[in-house]
Amino acid sequence: MGKFILGVIITLIVLILGGLGFATLGFFPTQANVAPPRWEHHLANTAVDASMERHAPHVTNPVPPTDQNLEEGMKLYTMNCALCHGGLDLKPASLANSFYPPAPNLPTHPPDDPEWHLFYTVRTGIRYTGMPAWDKTLGEPDIWKITSLLSHLEKLPPAAQEYYKTNFGVVPGGEKKEGMKDRDKD
Ligand code: HEC
Repeated sequence: MGKFILGVIITLIVLILGGLGFATLGFFPTQANVAPPRWEHHLANTAVDASMERHAPHVTNPVPPTDQNLEEGMKLYTMNCALCHGGLDLKPASLANSFYPPAPNLPTHPPDDPEWHLFYTVRTGIRYTGMPAWDKTLGEPDIWKITSLLSHLEKLPPAAQEYYKTNFGVVPGGEKKEGMKDRDKD
């Protein structure tokens, strides 16, 4: 038993020293201009989702998806999010692939996460990525309005849909072929 514990301790020390050596000797890559490998993308997404599930309060959106709130959501999105996540006119963001991991195009691939999940993501950001926390910049009602917009992009009520077409020149979500709508999750 004593030998087993000693073995575990030595293995841990070797792993820690190996990790420190890997980082301090400059082996850790810093480039953000490459795409993460699939396994890393999958592992990181699973960890983010599990952390949200644990930390984010499962609250209901207090801002109703009225035409006015959705239209304000469009303005707020355009001013704060389009730079990285792509415009509501469905043009890709020039910065999207300059982050590690890249910023997903939200207007062409609307997230299917519950609203409490989206709200928490936007309010608190995602650590170790380019996704900022917006709690110091936007008030909670505004974050909820953007949340409403994102979760209603594919089912906007008629007046909001008309406003969208007039201002952005396209149909929300784009006119894509069947089976192309869901975001590649892995
Ligand atoms: C400076 C660039 C930048 C800005 C501005 C930005 N984001 Fe992000 N965002 C990112 C990046 C990069 C990611 C990818 C993080 C990841 O994959 O874990 C991300 C991830 C997200 C996600 C999670 C998507 C998913 O794959 O589950 C949501 C939702 C989101 N952002 C919403 C917003 C909203 C809403 C705004 C505006 C209030 C915004 N972001 C502004 C860079 C940005």
